[in-house]
Amino acid sequence: MSKAVRFDEYGGTDVLEVRDVPVPVPAAGEVLVRVRAAGINPGEAKIREGQAHERWPATFPSGQGSDLAGVVESTGGDVSGFAPGDEVLGYTYARAAQATYATVPAGQLVPKPPELAFDIAGSLFIAGTTAYAAVRAVAPGEGETVVVAGAAGGVGVVAVQLARRHGARVIGLASERHHEWLRAHGVEPLVYGEGVAERIRETAGPRGVAAFIDLVGDGYVALALDLGVAPERVDTVVDFAAAEKYGVRADGGMAADDAPTISALADLVARGELDIPIAARYPLDEVRAAYTELGRGHTRGKIVLLP
Ligand SMILES: NC(=O)c1ccc[n+]([C@@H]2O[C@H](COP(=O)([O-])OP(=O)(O)OC[C@H]3O[C@@H](n4cnc5c(N)ncnc54)[C@H](OP(=O)(O)O)[C@@H]3O)[C@@H](O)[C@H]2O)c1
Repeated sequence: MSKAVRFDEYGGTDVLEVRDVPVPVPAAGEVLVRVRAAGINPGEAKIREGQAHERWPATFPSGQGSDLAGVVESTGGDVSGFAPGDEVLGYTYARAAQATYATVPAGQLVPKPPELAFDIAGSLFIAGTTAYAAVRAVAPGEGETVVVAGAAGGVGVVAVQLARRHGARVIGLASERHHEWLRAHGVEPLVYGEGVAERIRETAGPRGVAAFIDLVGDGYVALALDLGVAPERVDTVVDFAAAEKYGVRADGGMAADDAPTISALADLVARGELDIPIAARYPLDEVRAAYTELGRGHTRGKIVLLP
């Protein structure tokens, strides 16, 4: 048997259960993975709460989770390049990662570099591809100033580092307790809240802000435009209404959900050039506690389930 997260109705973390289910059988083109780590994301909580029903409805009983890393158990027909025992990371769109076993299309898996720890590998997909897409969308140039709102969250920690790799100056909006981590990663941290526009203007100096990445919502798109950022250099992964209203970009994870991007991110971490802090690790049975912590909204980096 496999253990898997399930829920039968929309609701709070208390609808989440871990159940015994049959080990899934890989179809042609699929790989059966013994999952070692599955990162959790706010989008899954929005789906489970029913907030995303219009865009991404659930069917019940629903499984949960996209991000995963683990070890190949077996392969279906027509799979080359993977064999039992291989360490892999990747993603599923079947809401199935939070389980001891998951079947995954072979094209959505890549080899895990040996230097990359399972917990980070299993947390890389959604946060990594979203950060990659958002940074690519605003195309930071050498010496330009980029503001990242939500700089210390799962997506933020990756986005600030990728923007720095473009040679940009990065201003990261985050609570005080993340500032030391941000400074250590070459980011100029500022607290958000009242007066943030003034603080950004002062810190950015006469050249102003060239690009803005919004990972929070809450009026940041309008703030970016007030700061004089051109609409095509503002990207939000949260506020789709503002994107529509102001004509700014809304590239998120789906704009970069491919194996080469995951491989590139995995290699950066393996080489020590990208740091993904793991805020907390939970056994699969404590899935409710994991989402309760994520729901507080002040995570630094990623929270990961270890099935
Ligand atoms: N469109 C997509 O493809 C896509 C993909 C992934 C995620 N998302 C969305 O992007 C958002 C961020 O995801 P995540 O995984 O990074 O979440 P997360 O790990 O929970 O991080 C959220 C961060 O937001 C910060 N924050 C909260 N209120 C803030 C404010 N008013 N101003 C600035 N920062 C604030 C918190 O920082 P402090 O601790 O500093 O308060 C926290 O670190 C979520 O809404 C998620 O659903 C969209």
